[in-house]
Amino acid sequence: MPLNQQHRFRSLALTAMAAAALSVAGFVESTPAHAKAPQAQPQVLTASAVAVADKYAADTAAQIFKQGGNAVDAAVAIAFSLAVTYPEAGNIGGGGFMTLYVDHRPYFLDYRERAPMSATRNMYLDDKGEVIKGMSLYGHRAVGVPGTVDGMWEAQKRFGKLKWKQVLAPAIKYAADGFVVDDQLIERRDRASKEFAGKTNFDLYFGSMKSGQVFKQPDLADTLQRIADKGSKGFYEGKTAELIATSMTGHGLITARDLKEYKAVWRQPVVASWNGYRVITAPPPSSGGIGLVQLLKMKADLKDKFEGVPLDSAQYIHLVAEIEKRVFADRAQYLGDPDFYKVPVAQLTDDDYILKRAQEVNPEAPSDTKSVQPGLGTSMPEKAETTHFSVVDKWGNAVSNTYTINGYFGSGVVAEGTGVVLNDEMDDFSAKPGVANMFGVVGSDANAIAPRKRPLSSMTPTILTKDDKVAMVIGTPGGSRIFTSIFQVLSNVYDFKMPLADAVGATRFHHQLLPPNTIYQEPYHQLDAEVVKELEAKGYTFSMQGFNGDIQAIRIDDTTPEPMSDPRGRGVSQVIP
Ligand code: DON
Repeated sequence: MPLNQQHRFRSLALTAMAAAALSVAGFVESTPAHAKAPQAQPQVLTASAVAVADKYAADTAAQIFKQGGNAVDAAVAIAFSLAVTYPEAGNIGGGGFMTLYVDHRPYFLDYRERAPMSATRNMYLDDKGEVIKGMSLYGHRAVGVPGTVDGMWEAQKRFGKLKWKQVLAPAIKYAADGFVVDDQLIERRDRASKEFAGKTNFDLYFGSMKSGQVFKQPDLADTLQRIADKGSKGFYEGKTAELIATSMTGHGLITARDLKEYKAVWRQPVVASWNGYRVITAPPPSSGGIGLVQLLKMKADLKDKFEGVPLDSAQYIHLVAEIEKRVFADRAQYLGDPDFYKVPVAQLTDDDYILKRAQEVNPEAPSDTKSVQPGLGTSMPEKAETTHFSVVDKWGNAVSNTYTINGYFGSGVVAEGTGVVLNDEMDDFSAKPGVANMFGVVGSDANAIAPRKRPLSSMTPTILTKDDKVAMVIGTPGGSRIFTSIFQVLSNVYDFKMPLADAVGATRFHHQLLPPNTIYQEPYHQLDAEVVKELEAKGYTFSMQGFNGDIQAIRIDDTTPEPMSDPRGRGVSQVIP
């Protein structure tokens, strides 16, 4: 974690301290936007299933399936529900990505926030050119134009079976009638409250929330009702948009025009073959899909080096850290919004390129950090707290959705009169080349701020298929830890043949090139003390982080779904007949 800023994600930090044949990675053909949703498909799974961040969202999904909804209806209803009952990360004031597998075809929906039109490259720098601490994290200036509502609208309109109002109904009920507040939410509220004190209106909205008591949000219920009545326009135009724009006046940059012009985008997912599976995952503006494919394939390329190396042994951690170094060097140099910068996706996921990078791994000792450079050279054209849920329905459709307001409770701003908690996604831009953001990751020109641009993300909603059938739906929050966490769980399941519960619950660790040779571990499961000593002797430093993901996964064994929620969070997994 970075290491120069205080933030609620990081403030959790306790500063104590297969390979099988791999084939071509690349794009699939995108499907025309007018493609119709599948109708009356034969049932192919024994049941529908969800793995979601809280019990209210699981109930929502059960209601939607009972009404005849499909995975997309359930996903959209879950997203709106979590915006009410999981306000630290569920949202309508943020953005995200949805990877879908519908009627045996992959799709990807980008509803990431965009920089406001009046955003400028140096907007977070002082007159000496230094980054102004906290400015991209707290308050109105940290907010990107939210994308969640348009994303949900696009997905449901294209693939949903139910009426739009039906998928909003559970969320409206939780907002109007209230929901019982959980201890974990109160802990997170308390921490956020300290951080936002004197900077935002956070306490005014969340101050009265008490553990075990019902919390009602009438403004949010009204906002959701406007969205139910008017669709996406109920958020981006009319009263909601006016209230958001008014709350920005004199404080932030988002205008009514920014809101009106926001559009979610259907993109081609990154698709790669790995270990007999097809991996369908997030393209730019996420770095996560490319990162995940590089990690999986480099590990497979190094099969002989990993052979017989026990999970979480010193040698295992060293080899994984060596791979991660190379992935993060590429991330910093080449990745950004593809609408603004030509991201070399095909080159970065090319088998020969990944093999060449794998061959640079030093099996004996940590490679010198400075020697690990972006692998395609630097002459590329320069200009050209999150939550995840996984859903499958009995017709074999799947949705993997990760969305976020960035840190817990985003910018800490609740747009007056709306109940909408606004994101601090602007921090995911590179405010200045080489200066780390709250996740400790650096960026280049590819991720510099520009009007209407989407900040680089690590969110990696992923689906694995085998023989054109869904085999795994997986994702997690965790900023730059997202794709290294997913990588570890997939490796645990498919390389180490662990049962899903063990694979998700197992220790996770993380390295990201910078700070040099630093391995992050988590209090949930610490690494063996002897292993830590051995690695310290090799030159590694260990740092504790409070949060290393909240995986929500569903594994499908032929026709039977097995959902699993990370024991680290308050998630619920449920099979729904
Ligand atoms: O898009 C990203 O990569 C980050 N804004 C995600 C933030 C996140 O996962 C926070 N989770 N605890």
